[in-house]
Amino acid sequence: MTDPQKDEENQKLLYSESYPLNEKKERTKVKAISQVHKLLDGVTLNKEKIYYKPLKPEHIDEVKNLHKEWFPVSYPDKIFEESILRNEGSHITQGAFYFLEEEKKEIILGLIIGRWQYVDKYYFDNVGENILGEINDSIDYEEEAQFFLSKNKYYYSVYIVSLGVIDECRKMNIGTQLIKDMMNYVVGFPFCVGIYLHVIVDNYSGKKFYEKNGLKCTKRLKDFYKIEDKMYDSEAYVRIFNKKEKGIVKNYRYSMMNWKEKCYRLLILKPFYFLVKLFLLICLCRCFKNRIKID
Ligand SMILES: CC(C)(COP(=O)(O)OP(=O)(O)OC[C@H]1O[C@@H](n2cnc3c(N)ncnc32)[C@H](O)[C@@H]1OP(=O)(O)O)[C@@H](O)C(=O)NCCC(=O)NCCS
Repeated sequence: MTDPQKDEENQKLLYSESYPLNEKKERTKVKAISQVHKLLDGVTLNKEKIYYKPLKPEHIDEVKNLHKEWFPVSYPDKIFEESILRNEGSHITQGAFYFLEEEKKEIILGLIIGRWQYVDKYYFDNVGENILGEINDSIDYEEEAQFFLSKNKYYYSVYIVSLGVIDECRKMNIGTQLIKDMMNYVVGFPFCVGIYLHVIVDNYSGKKFYEKNGLKCTKRLKDFYKIEDKMYDSEAYVRIFNKKEKGIVKNYRYSMMNWKEKCYRLLILKPFYFLVKLFLLICLCRCFKNRIKID
């Protein structure tokens, strides 16, 4: 029989740079609570066999535990349940997985969860990159999902709710693959302007990781996180997709129009502008011709 006290003592301790530094300026150690650590014990990973796919309802418990190991800020369970169940609705998820042949079990090595976030007052042409750092973080999944599903004429960004890779598999490019998968997926949505997130200020590896993946720090938010009754600042990291990446800015309004608006544009507005341009061109040519004659 296993002795629970010994088990507790033998529990693996993990580091996560998103936990704040303690008074001695050391990183807090966190107890391993997810299954993956025990299952991975003694296993030599074959990197080639890591595969990526969206998270499924059967992963919810492990995802909650992994999040606790990675982040000192606890989210209500509802967030994970909602996000995984609503995959490709109001949320997008992606996990890095590995199949253990001996145990015949699939394990999670890392994951990313993103949430569609409505961006108000955003106009591609005249707003700078700071805007996403200003977004109000109020969450109403139902409403957001409806916005998204009804293809409302608003712009959206994707807020990264959670992103982490287990200790044993860090610096193996898994985090990069996860965030790239997310960006490659969402950039294809015509109304998606970019991705953004918050990170605690002294998570240096996290910040370096985001910078390496093309995100920029746009803003420092004072006393953003409350962790064990102490307040900590956060930084907003943003990646706005550029026009070339999107290739849609011009077509965006057109794709969102109903058939009446499209007809008005094609049959009235476009021919009208064409005639105006033709008229101006003719006037210009005439002026030019008259000038040559006078000379
Ligand atoms: C941040 C995190 C997701 C990175 O995942 P990862 O799979 O280890 O990252 P990658 O292997 O893809 O690294 C990509 C780049 O990020 C940077 N980076 C990653 N880990 C780093 C570290 N410990 N120190 C410095 N730079 C680091 C490097 O520039 C690296 O590129 P390089 O290997 O060419 O130097 C992972 O460290 C983690 O889960 N941390 C705990 C949770 C967390 O902090 N999440 C993000 C904050 S919201």
